[in-house]
Amino acid sequence: MDSGNFEANVCQPSPSTDSLFERVSWFYALCREYLFRDHTQEIAHSLFPPEGPAPGTRLLELGCGPGFYACRLSEEFPNLRTTGVDLSFSLIQRAKDRAAARHLSNCSFQRADAHSLPYPSGSIDSIVVSRLFLIVPDKEGIVREVFRVLRPSGRCFIAEPTSGFRTRLPLALMWLLARLTTSAAGKYREPQQADVMSRPDFAKLIHTQMWANADLQYDGWYQYAVCQRGTAPVAEIPALPESLTGVVEAESKRAASHFVPPAHEHTATLTPA
Ligand SMILES: C[S@@+](CC[C@H](N)C(=O)[O-])C[C@H]1O[C@@H](n2cnc3c(N)ncnc32)[C@H](O)[C@@H]1O
Repeated sequence: MDSGNFEANVCQPSPSTDSLFERVSWFYALCREYLFRDHTQEIAHSLFPPEGPAPGTRLLELGCGPGFYACRLSEEFPNLRTTGVDLSFSLIQRAKDRAAARHLSNCSFQRADAHSLPYPSGSIDSIVVSRLFLIVPDKEGIVREVFRVLRPSGRCFIAEPTSGFRTRLPLALMWLLARLTTSAAGKYREPQQADVMSRPDFAKLIHTQMWANADLQYDGWYQYAVCQRGTAPVAEIPALPESLTGVVEAESKRAASHFVPPAHEHTATLTPA
């Protein structure tokens, strides 16, 4: 792995503030802290072996917002090298402040676009993507980037909300607050309504890449994917042939229809590493 490039190619700041996550970052940070569920333990069990990550393990959090998971994981596992990536300058600043307040030296943040990550192929051990697909224009492009930058046998943990109302409410409130506090109302890039994916659509999205393993789970509030890349280097993995697209879609539908919801909505059992 080329460690020299890990921090390189940072997205250059632009004067654009056309994001709700810039305008009312404080509101999202409050929601993240006090309203949304904390999946730190599920992430750790899914991505790391029982003894914890090996020294120097590189973890990327995409769309990290205020750096909740990057900081929690860096705090819990000093062996990790964590980087949080987000488009919002304000949230990146909040994430940096959070890490500094906790004296975390193994945690950094940079502005970058999850559709086009500034990391070499196969350079990252583990990736966390939480609540990001709700608001992005090209979900498949992000899954492709996750697959590309993961090293052979690397894993990712993806969590997306399933509850329309509870997911759409925070975004609707962000729109309302932005409208009340700016004259540029209506010019933000986020959708008016969060795009909550159905189970078949989520399964189909995950299966757009050729994972060695993809474990999909659901509970009353979230859908999860824990995916592992195969052992072949990226260059040796053939693109998914056109002729297989229908097969993948059928398999996604079949998989989605066979999920057994956990007995309790707070007990998503994700296969430990
Ligand atoms: C709904 S928040 C999720 C934040 C955090 N992952 C969590 O679990 O609470 C979505 C975050 O993704 C960021 N974001 C949106 N589009 C992005 C992109 N293309 N690349 C990187 N970050 C993006 C937003 O700025 C925002 O902080």
